Amino acid sequence: MTEIKTEILFPKEVISRRVGELAGRISRDYDGRELLLVGILKGAFIFMADLIRGINVPCRVDFVRLASYGCSSQSSGKVRITKDLETPIAGRDVLIVEDIIDTGLTLSYLVKVLREREPASLRVCAFLDKKERRQVPFDADYVGFTIPDGFVVGYGLDFNENFRFLPDVCVLHDIA
Ligand code: PRP
Repeated sequence: MTEIKTEILFPKEVISRRVGELAGRISRDYDGRELLLVGILKGAFIFMADLIRGINVPCRVDFVRLASYGCSSQSSGKVRITKDLETPIAGRDVLIVEDIIDTGLTLSYLVKVLREREPASLRVCAFLDKKERRQVPFDADYVGFTIPDGFVVGYGLDFNENFRFLPDVCVLHDIA
């Protein structure tokens, strides 16, 4: 088996500082309101756990899970919800929390679906953004780091369900 090499892209201290900055901005923007954070499983679970502990307005949480049709490495452009929210969002301030934006297909679909449920507001906070990979236009309201194309793992992100536990964000080299 070929050994997979990892190289640290963002060490945990850098991540922690940036997540704190995002949480500070979100706290200021939603001052006096109550937020519903919607995490996209599975990748967002660590980012969301850190983010929520830095936000100083009251937050509730819920989760969705989405899947793309067809081959996992090459998206066909069709997305569906495999686990929906348990919370009605009409009239609520909703912030979607995502680990990474790649083609933009997942978030553009989810935003469209959730908008139809008439939240008071709907924004997106993404930890990583691979802007150059977009297939559909999509801009998040809050972004941790913009990164170039390349396979990144750790801090919730996986390769074949491995590496989510790594505290740093790492780039994978020599993957077949
Ligand atoms: C990844 C990531 C985003 C999505 C982004 O999820 O967590 O949800 O892909 O890709 P897109 O912008 O091209 O739509 P994945 O399907 O790998 O599931 P996971 O979160 O369980 O790892």
